Amino acid sequence: DLTASYVGAAVPAEYQNWFSNGILSRPDLQNVVIQHFDQITAENIMKSSYLQPTQGNFSFEDADNLVNWALDNGVTVHAHALVWHSQMPDWMINFSGNWEDMMEAHITTVAQHYAGKVVSWDVVNEAFNDNNDNGYASYRDTDANSGGHGSPWYRNLGKDFIPKAFTMARAADASAELYYNDYNIEDDGAKLNSVLRLADELLADDVPINGIGFQMHVNYDWPSAEAIGTSFAKVAAKGLKVKITELDIKMNPNGDRDNFTAAMAQQQKERYQEIVAAYFANVPANQRGGISVWGVSDADSWIPNFTGHNDWPLLFDEQLQQKPAIEGFANALQ
Ligand code: G3I
Repeated sequence: DLTASYVGAAVPAEYQNWFSNGILSRPDLQNVVIQHFDQITAENIMKSSYLQPTQGNFSFEDADNLVNWALDNGVTVHAHALVWHSQMPDWMINFSGNWEDMMEAHITTVAQHYAGKVVSWDVVNEAFNDNNDNGYASYRDTDANSGGHGSPWYRNLGKDFIPKAFTMARAADASAELYYNDYNIEDDGAKLNSVLRLADELLADDVPINGIGFQMHVNYDWPSAEAIGTSFAKVAAKGLKVKITELDIKMNPNGDRDNFTAAMAQQQKERYQEIVAAYFANVPANQRGGISVWGVSDADSWIPNFTGHNDWPLLFDEQLQQKPAIEGFANALQ
């Protein structure tokens, strides 16, 4: 039972029957979430392409069904994501009006709608590129790995889209914890440096940010637990909360491990344990935003589509049975 300490999971959810195998039609998945987790994140349907598919037309029904299910079952919601360059509706990508007004309309309408229902938001997701620039990653502009359109937010508003977004989110929701969320910042490298510099700038300007979300899409052998712990500690040292938002562990990142063997299951158990232990060792109790895995069952993981290989990254197998991984995770909980 992982609910000992604020543990969450991203869940697939129905959306206009585009993808209808979400949690609301799966009592077995609901039971696992209620028993083992105390928070959920909508894997997709609270992103801008789903909530505002055409300008001024907000489509909340499906996400409301998910949020209301959570509230009815004593499960909190970490909302994801107000401003991201992926999964934007086409009208937004191609928008030619006032971008600050358009961003404010989206953030305000959505965050007001969920105020009092969600406990936290990923306000801005993945603003930095992976390429290095004197020890820092550059702001994402035209890089290919964002669907080829780069970040329209950065291109139209410059780096100030970030403080503006946090200020707008706080104005719309007075109490939700507001996070900046990114991946590949857990290796104590250039991208983390960019996030730390952003944090310093936001804190210096009294921008309402509460924490940093570490997505933690890691491999069984990368990055080291030491680098992960150091990365957590550097954020915690700024007084910000640290939340693991999307943890999963690729066991076959290179496609050279065709089957999930008992040895790999043991390796994954130890890997989950060392990551959760690094979190508790490096993040003071009052700065822990929690730990969420990106999916419950290996059958629902985004990773095989992403890598093109079989993989077994999560705590439950394709039949929703517990894997040794969950024991490793639980062993490190405090
Ligand atoms: O399945 C529908 C299909 O029925 C419909 O016709 C089609 C119309 O475009 O959309 C399909 O939706 C897919 C969606 O997942 C729901 O399954 C999209 O094609 C697919 O691109 C989308 O992938 C999601 C991905 O974000 C998009 O970048 C993954 O499920 C989701 O796990 C992943 O999550 C992201 C986080 O939000 C941010 N951090 C990284 C993480 C992994 O990429």
